[in-house]
This record gives sequence, C-alpha cells and structure tokens, in this order.
Amino acid sequence: MCGITGYIGHRKAYPIVINGLKRLEYRGYDSAGVMMFDGDQMHLSKTKGKVSDLEEITNKETYRQEGNIGMGHTRWATHGVPNDINSHPHFSESGDLVIVHNGIIENYDTIKKELITRGYTFQSDTDTEVLVNLIEEVKKQEGCKLGKAVQIALTQVIGAYAIAVFDKTKPNEIIVARLGSPIAIGVGKDLGEFFVASDASPFIEFTKDAIYLEDEEMAIIKLGKEVKVRKIMDDSLVDANIQELQLSLEQIEKGGYDHFMLKEIHEQPKAIIDTYRGRMLADEGIIKMAGVDDNIEKFMNADRIIIVACGTSWHAGLVGEYLFEDMARVPVEVEYASEFRYRNPIITPKDVVIAISQSGETADTLAAIKLAKSKGAFVFGVCNVVGSSIARETHAGAYTHAGPEIGVASTKAFTTQITVLSLIALKLAKAKGTLSNSAFHMYLQKMQLIPSKVEKLLQIDNKVKEIASVYKDAKNCLYLGRGFNFPVALEGALKLKEISYIHAEGYPAAEMKHGPIALIDENMPIFVIATNKGHYEKVVSNIQEIKSRSGKIIAIVTEGDVTVKEIADHVIEIPDTEEALTPLLTTIPLQLLSYHIAVMLDKNVDQPRNLAKSVTVE
Ligand code: M6R
Repeated sequence: MCGITGYIGHRKAYPIVINGLKRLEYRGYDSAGVMMFDGDQMHLSKTKGKVSDLEEITNKETYRQEGNIGMGHTRWATHGVPNDINSHPHFSESGDLVIVHNGIIENYDTIKKELITRGYTFQSDTDTEVLVNLIEEVKKQEGCKLGKAVQIALTQVIGAYAIAVFDKTKPNEIIVARLGSPIAIGVGKDLGEFFVASDASPFIEFTKDAIYLEDEEMAIIKLGKEVKVRKIMDDSLVDANIQELQLSLEQIEKGGYDHFMLKEIHEQPKAIIDTYRGRMLADEGIIKMAGVDDNIEKFMNADRIIIVACGTSWHAGLVGEYLFEDMARVPVEVEYASEFRYRNPIITPKDVVIAISQSGETADTLAAIKLAKSKGAFVFGVCNVVGSSIARETHAGAYTHAGPEIGVASTKAFTTQITVLSLIALKLAKAKGTLSNSAFHMYLQKMQLIPSKVEKLLQIDNKVKEIASVYKDAKNCLYLGRGFNFPVALEGALKLKEISYIHAEGYPAAEMKHGPIALIDENMPIFVIATNKGHYEKVVSNIQEIKSRSGKIIAIVTEGDVTVKEIADHVIEIPDTEEALTPLLTTIPLQLLSYHIAVMLDKNVDQPRNLAKSVTVE
C-alpha cells in the first residue's frame, strides 16, 4: 500500500518521478523518497512526510536537472515507523543496487538473520532493505545478472510485493516484479523509453500503452529495447500484453475543485449513468449484464448470497442485502472480509459470493475470495479498477465504471456499487419471478431519474455547509437510519470520522433505545434519515425520543415532509423515489456534510491521517 514510480529513457527523470509520486500519493503518504541516477552516481533523497516535504529537500539538489533514470516511492508504513531512514528507496550493502517496494515480506526476519551472518548490516527496520540485500547476495553467489538474481531471490520470499530494482553497475535496465501488489509499465514505443508505476496515472500524458504484470511475473525493462516478461517461479517467457489505456489526464486531476473528494461527490450523477449505461435499457425493460447473464443459473440456484467487502464497500454490501432479499427473495449474508477469511465459515458450491471493492486490491477481500473459491463457491466481483487483482481473481463480475477515485474517502464508489447491486437484484428478481413485471419496469424508470435527482441534491450544498458550520465542533455524533437507510447511517458516520476525526457512530434507529440513547444530551448532534416510505412513523417516534432528551436533530427527509420539519433542528430534503433507491440520494448530503466539516476543521480531506486508499495488507 505504497506508491512506486520509475523512469528509464531520454527525458529528465526527476519531473516524471516526482509528479508521478504526487499522483500516487493516495496510496500512502507518511514518507517519500527518490533516487536519481546521473549516469555515474545514484543520488538519494528521502524524508518522513509528504511528497511536498520531499520536494522542499530536492529543490536544492542539482540532480533534478541531470539523469534519465530514476525511481520514487510514497509510503504507508508497515515494517518500521515512518521516518527518514525507513523511507524508500533502499540501497543494498554495496550501494550498487537500489529498490522501491510496495507490499510485505513476511519471512524477512529469517532472511535478515541469515544475511547478518554473512556480514550484511542494516540501516532501517524495513523488510525492503532485507530484500535488496538478498538480491545482492544471490547476485554475488550465483555470479548472475540482476534479472536472474531478482528472480531467484523472489522464489525465497513469502509475502506480497511490487518492486522496481536498479543496478548502477548495469545502468541500462530496471527490473520490476509483482505478487499481490499492482505494477504497470508504460511503454513509450517509438522512443524506447519506459515508465514504471503502481497504476498508470504517473505516465498517462506520455503513453497510452501499458503492460500490467500478473502475479508471479517479472519484467526486464531495457532502455531502447522491448520489455521481457517472465514467470518468477519457472523462468518461462510470457507474451507481454500491451493494453491501450482508457484513462485520461482530466480524470485524474482536480478539475477546478479544491479537493478530489468534492470533485468525486459532484461526479456522482455521471458516474451512476456510466454504471448503468449499456446495461439498463429502461424503455425496453431490459437489464443486460454479461457477467450475470452468463451465470444466471448459478444466481438462480444459489442457496444464499454471501457478500464480502471492507469499509465503505461493506456498507454498499449491506444495502445489497436489503435489495436482494426484498426483490429477489434470496437469503443474504454480508461479511467483513477480514472476519470471514479467518473464522472457518461454512461455504458450499451452492453459495454465490459477491466481493465488492473499489480498488480491487484490498488484501482481506482478496483472501476471502480465494477461500470461497477453494470451497467451490461461484465468486462474482464488483470492482471499480479495471484489471485489478480482485477483478482477475473472481469467476465473473461487473465493473462500476465510476472512473478513478482518488480521495481516500469513498464517495462515488459507494453510489455506483449500489447501482450495480440494484441492477443485479432487479435482474435476478425478474428471472425468478419474485418481482412483478410492472414493478420491474417501474424500478427501471425510477433508476433512470436518479442521476438528475442527485444533481438537484448537489445544489443544496450551501445549506449543508451552513449546517456543517453549526456542528463542526461536536465531539461525538450519532447517525440513525432504518431499513435500506441503516447502511447509509453507517456510511455517514464513517465519512465523518475518517476525514474530520470526530467520533461518530451509525445505528439502526430502533436500536438507539438499547444503549446509545444514554449518550444523548444538548451537545449531541444526531443525523436521522427519515424518508417518507421507510418505516417513517417509527423513525418519527425515535426523533421524538431524541428531542425529549434535548439532542440536536438534523433530519434527512423526503421533499414535502411536514411532521419531521416541526420537530427537527434542521432538515435536508431529498427528492422522492422508491424506498429501495433512496440510499443513492440520502448519502449525498452526508458526504457533503463530512466534507465541509473536515474543510472547516482544516483537515487534510483527500489524505486523512493514518489511512490509505487501498489496504493491501492484512
Ligand atoms: O478498495 P476497497 O473498496 O476494497 O476498500 C475498502 C475500504 O478500505 C474503503 O472503503 C475504506 O473504508 C474507505 N476509506 C472508506 O471511505
């Protein structure tokens, strides 16, 4: 869960590497470093802190103007605290080799002890420094080239990695390898130059041709030559599959917004359309989804659906539970992937497992998928990142097509995941006959109206900002919802805590009286989702209970609401729609609210402390 970047070619390497790190900073941002090779010497700068801190250091360095080979790293610490020494890149004992690494080497301690007996010394606490020294030792022992040494060394390590390694004594190549952590190679075909990065964003303005390594593959990237891809375990050559990137520069820039999170909140109307475009033909009453169509028997005959995910994706999964049970009448269990993988769950070949992940790289979700597959279940992925590990590991799937989500706090990933789940639930309900034809058509028509309703909601931003200014100094907040909107309450609370660091809890509204009610006093803001069709009267009673204990109520209601308006301190109105589709609307003001509170508190909205966009470690 770090970002790595590199360049070998005819251009100045420094700007490519440093700008690449800025684009990859969402992956980790507790320390950063670069190595620049000037044709003779390797120059290293690294520091605890962000890429901007690194830039302050490198601004004074003349090597910025020299050298056509370089690599960089932005870190989310695993082994060793974030400090200057533990930052990457790391040199080998001799100073000839240098490495950047994303992942974890689990058996690093055993290897380290062995290397110490052979005279190696270590400056840092990282597993990465162990790996570069292991490569050096293999190279020495075998008398081989760097590529071979990397290959042999990797057969000895247990864990996950995406690495780039450079040897200053053979300065015409970079070796990259992957197991469990992504790595892409940008191919500047005509110019014989190459880019290396954790995703394609660092090189999008230079080339649209990319090779994504598969697990247990390595590539030897030689200046001016072709890329050679090999299997690490048996050394066999693999055809390097060059793909054309669909990504554009515009998609990965802020586009005039102050933060990526705000841009991504505002992108939701388009993202939802992109998710159902070509799949939902509302006027014809058809939902086409190849991954579901090709496996419809599996879905139809499933004893149950198990949804595995983490964080926001888990919340989308909970909405999925309500959708599948309500529409398609199939039992659903929603599991935290991290719990599921370790608790010896009962899984049978008659289960359909749906794995949800924006990044497609979350380690726990990936492990849960592997477990489910080993028990014979059919596994369906709902991912945003095309070609990600989870997309590849699942039997079939549906992409959310939300476009790159860079803000660490998920927003458009959530609404597009719910869109995909709604389409699958509706499709299955139609196939099983659990939803009448007229209800099916009605849902399609209403779904088609959702993007314009989200657009309308985004226009109440100023009102939400005003509410944010009233509650920004709260120490604790409660979020309540029922039915389809209980998961939205959880998601609202997660959004607030992860970017503003205010403690927040989400609860099913009726559970409040079993404990959280004790917390309520005049200082406690309580966000209640009280849409007109979802157990409205019951939620109104909950609101009354809060009011009589002096809690501050911010209610999300349906346009035209009268009752709640009279009781609540603030109301935010959402356009009317079917109850099952309300999560696509009720979540919007909660996202905006968290965003504004975090900005008012001067927090780093896009890169909240201790977090990273994709969690590729357990
Ligand atoms: O990439 P994934 O959807 O698998 O990520 C899962 C969680 O790490 C992610 O949703 C996390 O909770 C977000 N920071 C929430 O905003």
